[in-house]
Amino acid sequence: MAKIPVSLIEEIKERSPIDEVVSRYVQLKRAGSNLTARCPFHSERTPSFVVFPSTQSFYCFGCGAGGDVITFLMRIENLEYMDALRTLAERAGVTLPESDAAGGVETVSRRRLYDMNRDAARYYRDQLFDEKIGADARRYLTDRGLSPAVIKRFGLGFAPDDFGAMSRHMKGLGYTDAELTAGFLCKISEKNGRPYDMFRGRVMFPIIDTSGRVIAFGGRVMGDGKPKYLNSSDTPVFKKSRNLFALNYAKNNCADEMILCEGYMDVIALHAAGFGNAVATLGTALTPEQARIMTKYTKRVILTYDSDEAGQRADARGIGLLSEVGLDVRILKLQGAKDPDEFIRKYGADAFRDALAGSDGKFTHTLKSIMDKYTGGDPDTKLKMTREVNEYIAGIDSAVEREIYINQASAALGISADSIKSDVSFIINKNRRRGRKEEQGKLLREASGIGDRVNRDKLTKLHAASCEETVLGMLASFPEYLARSSNGEPLTKDDFSTEFGRRAFSAMAEIYAENGSFDIGAAAGVLTPDEISRITKLAVGRSRLDNGEDVFDANVAALRAEKSRQLAKGEDAFDAIRRLREKNKGNT
Ligand code: UTP
Ligand code: MN
Repeated sequence: MAKIPVSLIEEIKERSPIDEVVSRYVQLKRAGSNLTARCPFHSERTPSFVVFPSTQSFYCFGCGAGGDVITFLMRIENLEYMDALRTLAERAGVTLPESDAAGGVETVSRRRLYDMNRDAARYYRDQLFDEKIGADARRYLTDRGLSPAVIKRFGLGFAPDDFGAMSRHMKGLGYTDAELTAGFLCKISEKNGRPYDMFRGRVMFPIIDTSGRVIAFGGRVMGDGKPKYLNSSDTPVFKKSRNLFALNYAKNNCADEMILCEGYMDVIALHAAGFGNAVATLGTALTPEQARIMTKYTKRVILTYDSDEAGQRADARGIGLLSEVGLDVRILKLQGAKDPDEFIRKYGADAFRDALAGSDGKFTHTLKSIMDKYTGGDPDTKLKMTREVNEYIAGIDSAVEREIYINQASAALGISADSIKSDVSFIINKNRRRGRKEEQGKLLREASGIGDRVNRDKLTKLHAASCEETVLGMLASFPEYLARSSNGEPLTKDDFSTEFGRRAFSAMAEIYAENGSFDIGAAAGVLTPDEISRITKLAVGRSRLDNGEDVFDANVAALRAEKSRQLAKGEDAFDAIRRLREKNKGNT
């Protein structure tokens, strides 16, 4: 693990205020000196996610996620520690030591991969425009209605049907097998251990990030081969769950709304027809990260998935994810064509614009899908159908929204709004009662240490664990306590009874010893996200309490007493033996 000095971490954090970074993802509301929001890490209706600017930390009282700006970024963007640091550092204009020198975090540097992808894209493009080599591919694209201008705008290319043409060219430019393999351009043959070109005989679609860098490729066969599309796997510069095809162009055209479709060709056809706000996922279903990224650029997303069954399922999932991040969602069901590309070729851009205008809102769409599901007009079927609609309405937070939907449902189902309303209220109350019960059970289990995954020893060492929590909370809030001698002796990890306590303390002490200060952000490279969350919780928990030296010393004393009591009982025989051994080693 690369060691970044705490001073540098502190500098990065100083220039990356947590409220500013968090507010890129959720809408923060002021609550006294803190800020609250609905937690981005779990689904909730009332905000239990709190940002504490005074300590530059966050904690969710609902799901227990917590930490500092670094751990926040790690969680929300699903990044490794070093990548989160690097992202923040780049934005803040702080230079990090080269990761290779700092411990070989990556074998191939990101800069190198960006360069390599750009050079590969140029190569594929040149092949496409090569008189002979690219003839079939050019015809394929032209037959699919793409003009030379559109082909150029999207940087399309062609990978010749050859196991080594691309890599020979790239090696000529100085790229190594290891680099080509790390970038998913080559794969090592299981037969002879030699690398071969990944994309062969395919039309190439470069995937470009919002900074204009080529980060990956999709390649389509020109006939009926399988797979139809081959996509780069994740690489150090590409996470398919966090990118959208054509967002580099769409980001400037989508302030009001964005069109989300399934395929590369749909996006290109839409852009060519004047809908420059279209994007697509990269061969996978929409992810929560992608939904969050969209909120940066737009307010409303129109889903235009294929009309097949898989498309329907994707719709439901998309509606949920997009609504959850606060985007207004509309759903476009195209009639007479399977996807936007086909629709535009058949009916033209104006017809598509009309279709867009007639897209359904979230509720209309849901109501239609539920009603489509239940065919046959017998009372039982109608009852089931109505129940499902009511359940859906009961799940909506806003009373105004519910009222509008109730009226719409009433008209569609032919049932009085009053009846629907009273059933919906009944369901809401039932759900509330259940929620409260679950909440109480959770609190009870938490207090007694049942099911505590972070501190597994809590259940059997409840008293020690609670003193430890006080001590750790104080250490995290006031790192100078890490240098304190309580009752004449400095605190050591052996004073702790639980494995979690020892791990947390060791990490803190080590960072403090090396840097003369402690920052939870530095611990994020050593401890797990759950452990970081727990420490943050403990620190937050100390905020309104007495954190004086006598409180600290008293808890340390209690820890030590508890430890000797356990040693006497033989509960920690192994620890005792280990300690004796170490002591003896020191004596000889
Ligand atoms: P579709 O099969 O709907 O293809 O896949 P399409 O977009 O209409 O493509 P054309 O018009 O036949 O060329 C939709 C998307 O799913 C991903 C691709 O991103 C594609 O654009 N996909 C599809 C794959 O990743 N692999 C496949 O084998 C097929
Ligand atoms: Mn298609």
